[in-house]
Amino acid sequence: MKMYRTTLVALAALCAPVAMAQTAPKIKVGLMLPATGTFAALGTAIENGFRLYVAEQGGKIAGREIEYVKVDDESDPAKAADNVNKLIKRDNVDVLVGTVHSGVAMAMAKAAKDSGTLLIVPNAGADAVTGPMCSPNIFRSSFSNWQPGYAMGEVVAKKGHKKAVTITWKYAAGDESVRGFKEAFEKGGGQVVKELSLPFPNVEFQALLTEIAAAKPDAVYTFFAGGGAVKFVKDYAAAGLKKSIPLYGAGFLTDGTLEAQGADADGLLTALHYADSLNSPRDAAFRLAYAKAYKLQPDVYAVQGYDAAQMLGIGLAATKGDISKKNEIAEALRKAKIDSPRGAFTLGKSHNPVQDMYLREVSGKENKMVGIASKALADPGRGCKM
Ligand code: BEZ
Repeated sequence: MKMYRTTLVALAALCAPVAMAQTAPKIKVGLMLPATGTFAALGTAIENGFRLYVAEQGGKIAGREIEYVKVDDESDPAKAADNVNKLIKRDNVDVLVGTVHSGVAMAMAKAAKDSGTLLIVPNAGADAVTGPMCSPNIFRSSFSNWQPGYAMGEVVAKKGHKKAVTITWKYAAGDESVRGFKEAFEKGGGQVVKELSLPFPNVEFQALLTEIAAAKPDAVYTFFAGGGAVKFVKDYAAAGLKKSIPLYGAGFLTDGTLEAQGADADGLLTALHYADSLNSPRDAAFRLAYAKAYKLQPDVYAVQGYDAAQMLGIGLAATKGDISKKNEIAEALRKAKIDSPRGAFTLGKSHNPVQDMYLREVSGKENKMVGIASKALADPGRGCKM
């Protein structure tokens, strides 16, 4: 009897590794995105894109199933540290994916750096995330705020405009987008004569539009996104400014917003790392799959979510699904050419995409690509020591 029991125990021990291999634990993805507020639609598009890539891999990444733990971060920096620490410490997520708002993303980057948790930022452009806060375990699938601003500054200067006014929300994304624009515009011979702002997420633009009319600049540069961008474009036209002072923007001004902006957006020029008319086989396949899955056209946010999942896939393929091997994940991502619908991109030293910035013009309900504003633009990664 005793020998029989011993044999059973030995058999069970022999089978255990097999059973464990068959049921490799799921990868827990902490999705920290806005589900409410002015950036809610951006959060949904990012999640849709992420899930689409996972679905295309049969619901698994590097052979491991995915479990999602979701938090609505409300684009509220005051709640960000609590939200992200719950994901890390209470929910024990393997990887953080988020978020949209730069202020919230900086809290996520701090928590990721302190805990060593892998973080992939699928939108927020906070320069600091791939600047002074950069870390071997932090990656971005999107852009730095500097990038579209700088690209648009070059374009506006080349158009021969001399005097520009900027208008944006007063927080990291707005400030840094304007700083990028100003750097290139002034290098190209222009001058920013007035910098206007209002607190995020306010949309009472009237007093500031009156100031723009009084300043009579040659051009206006702006960063707004989501619901705020819809209202700004409509108010700019309603104030009669669209006819007299050309409006330029980081592409978020018209991405995912054209249905709501209607004719008021027609003809606007913006710079961004995605456009609706790239006409590459890769983008066409992505757009078709996205439209089939969600009965919606994708936008830049959907692409960034899709690529965040791709990046996780590349990292995990290198470690055969072992998320604890952070150095190997980082090495694989640093060497990777990411096959994005936007066009293939690589990651710079600070883990921010090196990518083409397209010049887009709104025509009908599309951001049509009309040229390259800046080729293979790399963020300078100022302050990043890795
Ligand atoms: C940001 O806060 O970084 C951001 C938000 C929306 C669109 C682009 C950037």
